Amino acid sequence: MKIAIGCDHAGYQYRIEIMDMLAKLGHEILDFGTDNDASVDYPDHVHPVSKGVDAGSIDLGILICGTGNGVAMTANKYTNVRAGLCWNEEIVSLIRQHNNANVLCLPARFINIKEALHFVHIFLNTEFEGGRHKRRIDKICI
Ligand code: RB5
Repeated sequence: MKIAIGCDHAGYQYRIEIMDMLAKLGHEILDFGTDNDASVDYPDHVHPVSKGVDAGSIDLGILICGTGNGVAMTANKYTNVRAGLCWNEEIVSLIRQHNNANVLCLPARFINIKEALHFVHIFLNTEFEGGRHKRRIDKICI
């Protein structure tokens, strides 16, 4: 799959390990940084990921910031982006099964790296259930 990743300074170490894991799994990665702990503005790293997912040129996105909220708020401004903030594995499964999420948002200051990698794995391997959930996501956009 073609997977884009973006983060701010709070998430850059998680980004490195997640990219390593994705590369080992054979995915094509589009990296939109940031790549160090110098303070940046998370929207600058979220917009390129979200634009690609919105346009359909990128299959899935992974975004990381301190709480996961800033990146989620930014990504969800795009019509075709469904970004879900996740802090446990059940929520990761549910954003795929029920919401057909195409962007995973991780709160680097509230989960450890082992959890982050596990959540990415679940995100990539859980299918949308369709049915009544399809009807509901079709009603999201105004
Ligand atoms: C950066 O300090 C922090 O505000 C950011 O990572 C994120 O949590 C914003 O939502």
